[in-house]
Amino acid sequence: MSMRHKVFIAAFAVLLATLAAMPVRALDNGLARTPPMGWNSWNSFHCDVSADLVEATADAMVASGMKEAGYTYVNIDDCWLLKQRGAHGELVPDPAKFPHGIAAVADYVHRKGLKLGIYESAGATTCAGYPGSIGHEKEDAAQFARWGVDYLKYDNCGDKRGQTYPQRYTAMREALARSGRAIVYSICEWGNESPWDWAPAIGNLWRTTQDITPRWATDQPANGYPQGILDILDQQAALAGTSHPGAWNDPDMLEVGNGYLTDDENRAHFSLWALLNAPLIAGNDLRHLSNEVRAVLTNREVIAVDQDWGSRQGAKLRDDGDTEVWAKPMSDGSVAVILLNRGRGPVSIAATAREIGAKAAGSYTVRDLWKHTQARGDGRIEASVPTHAVAMFRVWPGAHGTLR
Ligand code: GLA
Repeated sequence: MSMRHKVFIAAFAVLLATLAAMPVRALDNGLARTPPMGWNSWNSFHCDVSADLVEATADAMVASGMKEAGYTYVNIDDCWLLKQRGAHGELVPDPAKFPHGIAAVADYVHRKGLKLGIYESAGATTCAGYPGSIGHEKEDAAQFARWGVDYLKYDNCGDKRGQTYPQRYTAMREALARSGRAIVYSICEWGNESPWDWAPAIGNLWRTTQDITPRWATDQPANGYPQGILDILDQQAALAGTSHPGAWNDPDMLEVGNGYLTDDENRAHFSLWALLNAPLIAGNDLRHLSNEVRAVLTNREVIAVDQDWGSRQGAKLRDDGDTEVWAKPMSDGSVAVILLNRGRGPVSIAATAREIGAKAAGSYTVRDLWKHTQARGDGRIEASVPTHAVAMFRVWPGAHGTLR
């Protein structure tokens, strides 16, 4: 073999190795460059959905300041349709719930400057037993596009006709791509088939676990049901390297404000989801929003952490049993940090700038993202954290002006 051949073969081998080491590409639909923010009907209303509810929720999203804070999608979950397809095989919105159809609701939501989401399943039925989209992907996606739908949550119930997960979810990706409308594609297969390995090339986000419930933690094993906030959190620790703009891990919709979590638990849940670059999809009744819950959902400094991409989603740095330290690099060189107390009593938790990966500096600015105060110091972060709560900070090397 000539020297030229050898060089050529070596270069080819390097190219192949490089390609193999490259992460799975994100779905290239230009959407969800930051984690989607919005609301979904399921956690509070289950099958009790209607045009009235969706429109009143859109009104509340604007009036509460949530729209201003970044919330955009108003998403209808399961049970919006009739149990049978129409004469031409089309999905039919339940006329008792949506008397003027979905397009009218989409128009209403769009007039508010918001976007509309809908739900279907990659099987023969939805989880509540309505017609699923398998085998009808093309017509259903085209229908959603005609109605003006902007977001599809695609579930995993019903007969799968022997198709693999990637096959079923790719069929809808292709149908959405051909629908002519920009539709965010949310894959909901409950983390069954390690979606973080294949879903980034197919959808904009993918659920990583079974369904969330409005409780802090359960006594069940982590993969059992029901899932509390901490059960789900524990399953996110290993996923930090798998998401990126356009392709997000989805630890499920928020339970903030659903009446079972304390104020501290609501703040902890919201803070942790933000650190994970999770979609911030509220699941509470926005028409009856207390000031406390509104303050949690619209904390702009925490939302800014969620919406920022500084190279990877937040990860657990230290696990001391009842206390944990989580951190996420921010694109401006600062680091977001959470001190989490899972235990039954208040406890003091501390971390250093070095430990959280902040750049070496003579001094640091440490800002408390819930108290909205900041101080200069040596980068030691310390807080007395109540039971079932977090303290959340952002740490800049050197000086930093106030954020607002
Ligand atoms: C599944 C999903 C939930 C919700 C219901 C609707 O359980 O994981 O988020 O969409 O179906 O039936």
